[in-house]
Amino acid sequence: MARKRKSQIFEREEEQQPPPKKARPTETSLPEGVHHYEALEEVPWDLQKYWQQGYSIFSKYDDGIWMTDDAWYGVTHESVANKIAQHVAETVSNSKSIIIDAFCGVGGNTIAFALSGKWKRVYAIEKDAATLACAKHNAEIYGVSDRITWFHGDCFEILGVVQKEKVTVDALKAIVGQFGVIFASPPWGGPGYRDAEVFNLESMEPYSFSHLYKSFKAVTSDIILYLPRTSDLRQIAKIVEGSKDAGSKTEVVHYCTNGTSRALCVYIGNWSRLTLSDV
Ligand SMILES: C[S@@+](CC[C@H](N)C(=O)[O-])C[C@H]1O[C@@H](n2cnc3c(N)ncnc32)[C@H](O)[C@@H]1O
Repeated sequence: MARKRKSQIFEREEEQQPPPKKARPTETSLPEGVHHYEALEEVPWDLQKYWQQGYSIFSKYDDGIWMTDDAWYGVTHESVANKIAQHVAETVSNSKSIIIDAFCGVGGNTIAFALSGKWKRVYAIEKDAATLACAKHNAEIYGVSDRITWFHGDCFEILGVVQKEKVTVDALKAIVGQFGVIFASPPWGGPGYRDAEVFNLESMEPYSFSHLYKSFKAVTSDIILYLPRTSDLRQIAKIVEGSKDAGSKTEVVHYCTNGTSRALCVYIGNWSRLTLSDV
C-alpha cells in the first residue's frame, strides 16, 4: 500500500470554568509530591492558569483528582484524550487487542483508553512514583482501574528496548509485539517548544522523535506519538518513511480545543484511514 500523510483538524468546544472554591483539603494525607488543590490560593503561581482549566483537564476533578506539580504542564485534557481514544479504537487493526501507554503521567490518556471499552487490557508505564500514584488513584475515580496494569519504571527498559535483567517484562514484550499498539505522549522538553514556528523534533528532550520511533518500532508496528502542534511534519515523514520496515502509511491528526490545535498525533503503522466523519 502506498504511504500517505494527512492533516485533519478536529475542533471541540469546551467549558473552561475553574473548579469552585471549597474548604481546604487535607493535603497531609496525600503521598509526597501529590496534591489536590481546591482553592487558587493553594496553587503555585506558575500553575494557576492550568488549575483554572480544572474541569477541562479532568471533568471529575472535584471527586479528588490527584496531580503532581509537574503533571499540570503535560497532562492530556479529557476531551482530547477521549477523541484520541475514539480514533485509535476506530482505526486500529482487528488483530490488536492491547494498548501500552508508555508515558502514562497522571493517567489522562490511560483512563480514556480504558473507558473506550476497546481493549482487553491497558498497560500503563510511568517512571515517577508520585505521578504513577496519581494515575492509579485517578483511574479509581473514573472506575476503570480493573482494566489497567501499571508498571513503575523506564518504558524502554520495561518493553525490552534496552535489555535490563529483572526490569524487562519479557511476557509483556512478547504480547505487545503480536497484539499491542504503543501510545506515547513523551515529555516535550519544557515550554520552549511553544516559541518555535516549526519545532525540531530532534531537539525534543530527553527523547528525540527518531529515538522514540526506532525504540517503539522495535517492539510493535503500530505506534501513536502525541507531539507538539508545531512539530516538523517533513522531519516525521523523512524519519518514518526512510525506515525500511515502515508501516503502510502515516497520518497526522491535529487535536483542537476552542479552535486552537493543542497537539498532534502521528499514527504510524497499520491504521485504517480516518475520515472527516470521525470528527
Ligand atoms: C507528558 S507526560 C504524560 C502525560 C500523560 N499523557 C497524561 O495525560 O497524564 C510524560 C510523562 O512521562 C514520564 N516519563 C519520562 N520518561 C519516562 C520513561 N523513560 N519511562 C516512563 N515514563 C517516563 C514523565 O515522568 C511524565 O510523567
